[in-house]
Amino acid sequence: MKGIVFTEFLEMVEEKFSPDMADKIIDASKNLSTGGAYTAVSTYHHSELIELVSHLSEETDIDLELLVQTFGIYLFGRFVALYPSFFDENNTTFGFLQLIENHVHIEVKKLYPEAELPTFETNLLDDKHLEMIYQSKRPFAPLAEGLMNGCMEHYGEKIEIQKEQLSDDTNKHVKFTLIKQ
Ligand code: HEM
Repeated sequence: MKGIVFTEFLEMVEEKFSPDMADKIIDASKNLSTGGAYTAVSTYHHSELIELVSHLSEETDIDLELLVQTFGIYLFGRFVALYPSFFDENNTTFGFLQLIENHVHIEVKKLYPEAELPTFETNLLDDKHLEMIYQSKRPFAPLAEGLMNGCMEHYGEKIEIQKEQLSDDTNKHVKFTLIKQ
């Protein structure tokens, strides 16, 4: 997983909790390849992120999936700031989400060839229903849900998200149905 995900995660922890909390969860995580010193362009194993979030969940008593979703919302805001060229003011949540698989993540892969990305099968069922089927070797469906929430906040739309696990491997294969209110 790209270092940018780690640097943004630790910045969120510093901002929403405290710099001490960031230090605490790094100290508590015993399997970090670089002892918690991340650079945006390097690549690290995604299990390091899961270890850090697990300790944040223990320290704060907040559900782990909720923390990952919250991070997704935060990360979306950072993507808007870092990659403005992807965001067209005239777009909508459904319009943008339909660009992830065949445009946004393709460009990400060009920038960072070693990026490990999920796949999305995106189907616009009608003007109020968008289906997004997430599949990955990594269990980051809650991150996808947070990013979708960040997206609807960005475009100022109210959309309900329903989800269904499609395999026993929790959060690796999930169908999201987005319903415009
Ligand atoms: C401008 C918008 C976006 C950019 C620039 C972007 C870029 C990235 C980058 C750099 C990674 C890390 C790759 C790695 O770890 O090696 C990533 C992973 C990921 N992206 Fe995006 N992304 C964007 C929007 C979205 C949206 C809207 C969704 C959800 C619908 C999404 C879902 C994910 C997920 C779930 C991962 C984690 C990897 C996995 O699940 O296997 N991304 N993305």
